[in-house]
Amino acid sequence: MSQARKFVSSVRGARLALALACGCGAAADSGDPEDLCSGTEALNYDTFGAGFLSVYCQGCHASTATDRYGAPESVTFDDRAQAMAQLGAIRATVLGSPASMPPGGGVPARDLERLELWLACEAGGAR
Ligand code: HEC
Repeated sequence: MSQARKFVSSVRGARLALALACGCGAAADSGDPEDLCSGTEALNYDTFGAGFLSVYCQGCHASTATDRYGAPESVTFDDRAQAMAQLGAIRATVLGSPASMPPGGGVPARDLERLELWLACEAGGAR
């Protein structure tokens, strides 16, 4: 089982445990742990990836960026296909230790967690 899979499984387990413990899962949230990748709260390119890349990366990496600050011409995240082709590089540079992208760091923990989940969902072929 890959690290990403383990991560998603553990988060799913925690959500399920929480829903069972309080008995309020159905009202507060659909209660379906699969939602992380495929339900109404799913993290996919449209609901998360595009926005994340646009906010934290495209300022330097977009093919249309006016000042790339030296970002390689070959590394652009203009659309889903480009992002999908570079999931491994996104994971390595943003979630690696040490993380190298974005250069100044500063991505809030909540967004890093959601990035990790999105990458895991994409790797699992959900959509
Ligand atoms: C302030 C400008 C800037 C921002 C914002 C930025 N990058 Fe970069 N990026 C660079 C530069 C400059 C390089 C080339 C130098 C290097 O590799 O450190 C680069 C290189 C890369 C590379 C290829 C080289 C490698 O290390 O694998 C990837 C992949 C990458 N960036 C991903 C991202 C992602 C994902 C984000 C958003 C989370 C991001 N970058 C945000 C400037 C930026």
